[in-house]
Amino acid sequence: MQNSISIRETYAGKHVMIVGASGFLGKVWLAMMLERVPEVGRIYVLIRKRKGKSARERFEQMVNSTHVFQNLHTRFGSKLSQYIWKRVEVVEGDIAQTNLGISPATAQRLYQNLDLFINCAGLVEFNPDLEQGILTNVDGTLNCARFLETCDHAALLHVSTCYVAGIREGRIPETIHLFRSPNAQSFDAEAEYKFIWEVIKLITKDRGNLEHRHQIRDVLVNEGMRRAQIWGWQNTYTYTKGLSECLLARQSKKLRFSIFRPSIVESAIQYPFPGWNEGFNTCGPLALLLGSWFRYLPAKDGNPFDVIPIDLVCNGLTIAGAALMLNKHSMVYQCGTSDTNLLTIDQAAKLTSLSHQIHYRRFGKTAIERIVRPYWRTVTVPKDHIFSVSNLRKITRVLVRILEQPPLQNLAKTTLEFAGRTDRKLEQIENILELFMPFTHDYAQTFDTSSLRAIEVEEEEFRFDTKKIHWPGYWLDVHMPGLRQWCFPSIEKKKKGSFVPPIPFRLPPPQAPEQLQPSLISSPSSVRPPSQVY
Ligand SMILES: NC(=O)c1ccc[n+]([C@@H]2O[C@H](COP(=O)([O-])OP(=O)(O)OC[C@H]3O[C@@H](n4cnc5c(N)ncnc54)[C@H](OP(=O)(O)O)[C@@H]3O)[C@@H](O)[C@H]2O)c1
Repeated sequence: MQNSISIRETYAGKHVMIVGASGFLGKVWLAMMLERVPEVGRIYVLIRKRKGKSARERFEQMVNSTHVFQNLHTRFGSKLSQYIWKRVEVVEGDIAQTNLGISPATAQRLYQNLDLFINCAGLVEFNPDLEQGILTNVDGTLNCARFLETCDHAALLHVSTCYVAGIREGRIPETIHLFRSPNAQSFDAEAEYKFIWEVIKLITKDRGNLEHRHQIRDVLVNEGMRRAQIWGWQNTYTYTKGLSECLLARQSKKLRFSIFRPSIVESAIQYPFPGWNEGFNTCGPLALLLGSWFRYLPAKDGNPFDVIPIDLVCNGLTIAGAALMLNKHSMVYQCGTSDTNLLTIDQAAKLTSLSHQIHYRRFGKTAIERIVRPYWRTVTVPKDHIFSVSNLRKITRVLVRILEQPPLQNLAKTTLEFAGRTDRKLEQIENILELFMPFTHDYAQTFDTSSLRAIEVEEEEFRFDTKKIHWPGYWLDVHMPGLRQWCFPSIEKKKKGSFVPPIPFRLPPPQAPEQLQPSLISSPSSVRPPSQVY
């Protein structure tokens, strides 16, 4: 097969470093590699120490408490520790630091050994403080590139996002715009980087007391948004990711690298199990909102809503990594569904609404939830619709102002409090909608994914086949139940079920015993997705 790759053969004996393995995407990739590619050489997992815990402690805790590693526990039981020791080395570091904060002795070993470096770390909040956004997403990326330039032969696979496209519309090609911003201005990434650090230094010059620090943070958040919008990015997140791509491509002439851009990463179809999802980086908050009494979603019917299950993203990442190691790579891989298997925002809204209706009919806690809620449907409306949240807020604010006047002030105390609460709730909803507006309403973008699709993969379980997703089946039977189980509790600050393995995984003492029985290496599990999903 021309241009065909065997994932297992390519990764056999290869040494791969991953940063971001404690995150949503990195964790699934790591577990998948350990389960499906036992022949891999060594996987170096770079983790920073945090909240008084060392990298080793964090890694152990992750393997022992996250459901992603449940399959591995079930499969290897008491032998899991030995199985992982043989393949994984935990490295303490921090990509925001020079030389990734890795000890010189470890760095020396890595310079020689590494074949592939996957930078899956990022600050994925849409509107973070600009300093943190730049430190992680821009400086972190450049530090990875500098580290790789010292390596003997390793290549860099850098994870970015399709939404670096900013406000560009239509078919988005797999290219890096080195000299043009999304709003088509001439863009000098180096000058922008220099300028932005001068601004940050000026703002943070006097951090002072706590209150002052909060004010500085607010200024940095606003400055990030302002800078992003000047150049045509929707938020600080996509601005920092876009800037890092540009700088990486302009400054790393000698480095072998690819940029890997997923769209919106959502629940697993199959691996680690159908419905796995995590955290706030997904569309969880929006889906939860559509399950409340909120009804009018600002969205443009027909606009692509590019969602991709996390296991397909991990397949894509593994394929791109293999192509890089084989020197058959492209500079950019987009990883989405909009060009092969379109899901529109109105379809997604309808399916989400339908899922909530079915859920309330079966599990509603009150009579209203069971009887009325199943008929309550989300509808998509233009931004300026009469019942838009901003219009409703205008009405509540007028009401508050009237009720605050004497003599009503005393008479309508309860109503005033209610109106105040409603206004605060509407403000929260308005903020969520504002964050998701670029995806639901503002821009029609179709991401070209030709580069990934062009690579034939020998092993079926690693193929990047987005055409097979059956959206209604995926949404109703996999994605929404997944969000309900794994994401909504975190968003609502409720307790989630935790995973406790019968035999906990332990890392070896720092001088690792490395004997592994060959019989431990068995073929990958054959979990199949539900038939209606593919
Ligand atoms: N989720 C999505 O829908 C999506 C879509 C497109 C692209 N992406 C990209 O995919 C990548 C992973 O996203 P995710 O959803 O997995 O994010 P995530 O769950 O927030 O995980 C982020 C990871 O980055 C690590 N990290 C952050 N700063 C670091 C530093 N200075 N040094 C070392 N590690 C650091 C975090 O480590 P700690 O545990 O120490 O914080 C964590 O492991 C990001 O680059 C993101 O831009 C995500």
